[in-house]
Amino acid sequence: MNRLFRTDLADKEPSVVSVPIRKRMMCLNESCLDPFQAIRDQFLARMEGIRLNRYISPVTQELNAKLAAYVGCGIAKENVVWGNGADDMLYHIFLSVREDATSFAVSPAPSYFDYKTFCEAVGLGIKFVELEKDFSLDAEKYLQLASHPDCKLAILCNPNNPTGNLFPKEQLRYIVESLPDKLVLIDETYYEFSDSTFAGELKQHPNLILTRSFSKAFSGAGLRFGYAISSADNIYNLRKVLTTFHTSVLNQAFALTVLENVPLFCEQVLGVIKLRDDMFARLSSLPEVKVYPSATNFLTFSIGDRTPELFNYLKDRDIALRDVGAHRRLQHCLRATLSCEEDNEAMYQAIVDFLADAP
Ligand SMILES: Cc1ncc(COP(=O)(O)O)c(C=O)c1O
Repeated sequence: MNRLFRTDLADKEPSVVSVPIRKRMMCLNESCLDPFQAIRDQFLARMEGIRLNRYISPVTQELNAKLAAYVGCGIAKENVVWGNGADDMLYHIFLSVREDATSFAVSPAPSYFDYKTFCEAVGLGIKFVELEKDFSLDAEKYLQLASHPDCKLAILCNPNNPTGNLFPKEQLRYIVESLPDKLVLIDETYYEFSDSTFAGELKQHPNLILTRSFSKAFSGAGLRFGYAISSADNIYNLRKVLTTFHTSVLNQAFALTVLENVPLFCEQVLGVIKLRDDMFARLSSLPEVKVYPSATNFLTFSIGDRTPELFNYLKDRDIALRDVGAHRRLQHCLRATLSCEEDNEAMYQAIVDFLADAP
């Protein structure tokens, strides 16, 4: 044991992504549109006016205003703060609510894998409320756990990754209103694919904070840009745990250029929604496949006991999916990102071939 670091880190491991690297990367819910190729001229022109030898850049104010305008719903620049991906926002929110070693967060499960990772990184406990068989949430069970005095954060991923479903808005509203003394975080990373947001209700709910990402709808997974939206007071307090110059001016300049091209990315999102719905219909028509409805850019599905075999079969065909079967509610389930028509076709054909090869 290395005694130079926090004792609770002794049995933890560094955060790693364990997915197969294949030609068709359908495992990390990325986009197949490379935003650099799409908007490079505008980005490079903007960079001409930016001084990388300086800490302070006018791009920061411009981005703040543009991001608030993109969110809409009366959101002002004091209501947003950004960082290096939604993950970075989650990490800092966790850091900002942790009171002491007894503090914990609550999340439904299965949900986004890294809530646990980042909670552990900052020394915040995490407790889970298992989703029902149909992936719905029992609000009373959730509230029972979240009402505990040591619970400092109630997390809700909406739409939920990796199940893909949206929780009913009234239910989430009920949870937010039942926990007036807790920060409630709604993770809206897949917002643009679902068109469901609580951004318009932030004024009514001072305990609510939203996180969003440029990695999905804005095709910028490698860019690392995400943001949080909340009351000016909550954002002010969250900023206390951020470092002063936490996000590169390069990221900011690129994110600003993305926001000047919203229609291009919206068109991409609409295309992905269509691909997702088409694939949902096609997979549903295969009697061996159980596929779950999704309000995201991915579909989660199962073919029962033979799912692990299918996972390897797809890998051998250069197709990487995410095995999300670790939680018992998703036993034998795979998650496929559906951003690219060619990849989708290859995956569908491989599944059909695999099923035709039934033992
Ligand atoms: C629910 C959820 N939250 C947060 C993230 C992290 O997004 P980012 O790439 O912006 O850090 C992801 C990424 O897959 C996600 O699925």
